[in-house]
Amino acid sequence: MTVLLEIYFRLKGGLLRIKVTTIIRGILSNILALLAPKLFMKLTHETGRGGDYNKDYELEKYCIKVFDDYLRVLNKVKDNISPFFQDKIIVEYGPGDFLGVPLLFLCHGAKRVYCIDRFPLASEKKYLNLYNKMLLNHNNSYAGRKTWDDIINKDIIYIWAKDGVFLVPEKADIIVSRAVLEHCNSLEKTFKNMHQNLKSRGIMIHKVDLTSHGTHLRVPLDFLCHSPLTWYLMTSQKGYPNRWRRNKYKEILDYYSFKILYEESLNEFLQEELKSIKSELTCCFCDLPDEELLCSDYFFVAEKA
Ligand SMILES: C[S@@+](CC[C@H](N)C(=O)[O-])C[C@H]1O[C@@H](n2cnc3c(N)ncnc32)[C@H](O)[C@@H]1O
Repeated sequence: MTVLLEIYFRLKGGLLRIKVTTIIRGILSNILALLAPKLFMKLTHETGRGGDYNKDYELEKYCIKVFDDYLRVLNKVKDNISPFFQDKIIVEYGPGDFLGVPLLFLCHGAKRVYCIDRFPLASEKKYLNLYNKMLLNHNNSYAGRKTWDDIINKDIIYIWAKDGVFLVPEKADIIVSRAVLEHCNSLEKTFKNMHQNLKSRGIMIHKVDLTSHGTHLRVPLDFLCHSPLTWYLMTSQKGYPNRWRRNKYKEILDYYSFKILYEESLNEFLQEELKSIKSELTCCFCDLPDEELLCSDYFFVAEKA
C-alpha cells in the first residue's frame, strides 16, 4: 500500500518527482538478485571495485591505502603497532572479489584471515598473477615462503554466508571492514555476529560510506526520502545502501557494549542541499539532527568489552 501510494504521488508529480520507472526498475532488479544472486553479481559486479580499479597496480594501490588507513587509526589507540598483526586472527567482512587486503595482513604477520561475504567469490583464479606479484612486492619471510595456492583456503579463508553471518572456528583478535556496513541488510545481525566472532578486548575497525551510492536523483541526500518499505523492495537483495546514519552505528555499538576508542567523520553533504529536501525525508530520518544527516563517511575503532 505504501509503495502504491508513493508511486501514485510521484505520478501526480508530487514529492521529488522521482521517476516511477526508477522505483519499478529497482524492484525488478531486486527480485533478480533474490532469485539469481550469481547472475546479478555477474551483471553488476557488486563485489568488485570496478571503475578506476581495474588495472593491477590500481588494485594493489587501493589495498595498500586501505591497509595503511587501518594502521593509521590503530596508531591513534595503541602504542607500538608495528608487531600488532603478528600471529593475529583477523576477520574481514565484505572483502569484495579481490583479497589483497587479507594478503597484506598475512605479509605483516597475521596468522589467518577469514573473509565473510554475502556474495560468492567471483573467481579464485582471476587475480592469481597479481596475488603472487603482491607476495613478492611485500616481501618478508612469509611472502618468501608461500605462493597464492599455498595460502588460499588455508591462511585466507573465504566464506560465502547468507546475510554475511558466520561463526568462524577461531575467535578473532581484529575485525575489519571497509565500505561494507552500509550494504548490510541487517546491521543488528552483522554486529551480533561480529560480537560472537571477536575475542574480548578484541579490536574492530570499520569505515562506512554513508553516501547514496548513485541512488539519488536530484540532490545527494534525496535517497533518504523513499519510504522504508519502498526502499526495502528496491534494494534489500542487492546490497545497496541500507541508509542507516551514524547515530544507528553508535546505538548498536552501545547495545553490544563495544567501546568506541576513536572516530572520524566526514561531512561532505551540503547544508543547502539538506534544506531543500528536509521536509520530504522519510519517517526514520526526519527527526535526526542535521549533524547526523550531514555526515557522509564514518570511520571508527571500537573495542569489545
Ligand atoms: C562496496 S564492496 C566493498 C569491498 C571491499 N571491502 C572494498 O573496500 O573494496 C561491499 C562488499 O560488502 C559485501 N557485503 C554486503 N553485505 C554484506 C554483509 N551483510 N556481510 C558481509 N559482506 C557483505 C558485498 O558483497 C561486497 O563484497
